[in-house]
Amino acid sequence: MSLLGIDHVQIAAPAGCEAKARRFYGELLGLTELEKPQELAGRGGVWFAVGDQQLHIGVTEDFTPALKAHPALRVAPDEFDQLAARLEQAGSPVEPDVDLPGQHRFHTADPWGNRIELLAAFPIVTVSPFGPTDAEQFAQWRYEGEYSFYDSSPTDADAALKPENRYYAVRRNGELIAHVCVGPEARVAGMKAEPGVDDIGFGLRPDLTGHGEFRTLLPEIMDALVPELTAPAQRVVVAAWNDRALSAARHAGFDATGSVVNNLGRWIVLTRQERRQGTDRRA
Ligand SMILES: CC(C)(COP(=O)(O)OP(=O)(O)OC[C@H]1O[C@@H](n2cnc3c(N)ncnc32)[C@H](O)[C@@H]1OP(=O)(O)O)[C@@H](O)C(=O)NCCC(=O)NCCS
Repeated sequence: MSLLGIDHVQIAAPAGCEAKARRFYGELLGLTELEKPQELAGRGGVWFAVGDQQLHIGVTEDFTPALKAHPALRVAPDEFDQLAARLEQAGSPVEPDVDLPGQHRFHTADPWGNRIELLAAFPIVTVSPFGPTDAEQFAQWRYEGEYSFYDSSPTDADAALKPENRYYAVRRNGELIAHVCVGPEARVAGMKAEPGVDDIGFGLRPDLTGHGEFRTLLPEIMDALVPELTAPAQRVVVAAWNDRALSAARHAGFDATGSVVNNLGRWIVLTRQERRQGTDRRA
């Protein structure tokens, strides 16, 4: 037996439901109506396309609304808030539910009280230019042991606020968890710019370090950073002793391509030949 997927879901509605179905599912939710096959047209109801699947509003004699069982319809993230507002304006309930990881969702009800869930996927990790509050927090970051080499100061925080330095705040569910820097400011002293390569620097909020966070976080950061990159390849230059950063960079697809020595010690150069989303996160 091989079931290939869901073809359609049927929602029950009372007789004479067609006009309200077209108004709610067609106009408000924006679904495209499908012509019912001739053989079934006499039964009433309305069919709609939802992506590759279908939603059938079917007439039933002794109708009772489904208050618990429901279809969940996926919404384009940039239209999610608009849709909630449109439903509210039309007098439909909009009841936000607990967000699942990376998913925002709310429930509404169709004209007969059937429960409908609407959900949209939002990136958990976002990257955006540093703001004053980010800089204030960043200025307090202090690392333990040899990682204190990366402690930030008020001067670093001021530098992070200058747009030309291309510092970005990395947020998870809105909370600052790391910083990432792109371009000359991320370059280790003595390194020259390389054509076709963006220099990248990064740091994780000190209280989050040492728990295996960054090996999964850095690929997500690199994905979120794609619109900010200007070159096809990226380079990180990591202190040779910094096993954590070296390991995290390798997990994100950076390969060691050389080393340099300056007055601060030896550095490993790692490069990554991609600027695309969908980094392999299986590492
Ligand atoms: C570098 C940094 C981003 C790494 O993040 P992290 O979450 O602390 O790192 P993780 O805990 O994920 O550890 C990464 C790897 O290093 C390993 N590691 C951790 N501590 C280690 C140690 N003391 N010795 C050897 N390896 C160690 C982990 O086991 C992990 O390896 P694995 O992925 O093969 O299991 C973070 O420590 C940091 O921000 N440090 C200060 C700033 C900095 O170093 N920036 C780098 C500039 S390029």
